[in-house]
Amino acid sequence: MSVMTQDELKQQVAKAALDYIKPELTSDAIIGVGTGSTAEFFIDGLAAYRDDFKGAVASSDATAKRLAGHGIEVFDMNDVTQLSVYVDGADEANKKLQLIKGGGAALTREKIVASIAKTFVCIADESKAVEVLGAFPLPVEVIPMARSAVARRIRDLGGNPVYREGVVTDNGNVILDVHGLQITDAKELERELNNMVGVVTNGLFAARPADVLLLGTASGVKTLT
Ligand code: 5RP
Repeated sequence: MSVMTQDELKQQVAKAALDYIKPELTSDAIIGVGTGSTAEFFIDGLAAYRDDFKGAVASSDATAKRLAGHGIEVFDMNDVTQLSVYVDGADEANKKLQLIKGGGAALTREKIVASIAKTFVCIADESKAVEVLGAFPLPVEVIPMARSAVARRIRDLGGNPVYREGVVTDNGNVILDVHGLQITDAKELERELNNMVGVVTNGLFAARPADVLLLGTASGVKTLT
């Protein structure tokens, strides 16, 4: 048996996500679409169904551009009340389907779009499944003038924040990647970080975890709920 590459596993879950959401694709359906390489495979697959649903809300400028490039109409979220489904990747996922996201710096818009989705379908290759969140540095989006102040407060919590140099988010902010965390209470840390003045949001999706995790493995796609 040949070993599947990480990209092949991502393609496999993207296809599984299309099968999963097919019943949601009706003429008035607007779906939420995430950001990253796994989400891109999903978007490319979604193109084949573009006449079967109304359009999408995008979690980043890059996703909006890719959707539009496939002829899928992109809606402003202010014009949308609810999404039946949001599909997005993750950097880490635990058994409770709590996630770390933001490797692609789109965490804030991803969290906003996920917040109005009835079902959040997370798609990831098996390398993203962990027992304890935190080996992947936790992204925190920060208002630029608060960068050093927030970094000091994160150090007080025991994290090691590293400024992601050269990256400006779609919202005009900067990212601190927090190393050295072993996140055993993701909900509490999510709340604590979000309460720091100057933090826009952090990449923990624990208050609103995924509802379904489609995990691409060498022996097929596993569905976790
Ligand atoms: C972007 C994200 C992505 O979902 C996450 O980084 C996973 O990316 P990929 O699918 O390329 O591995 O949160 O902000």
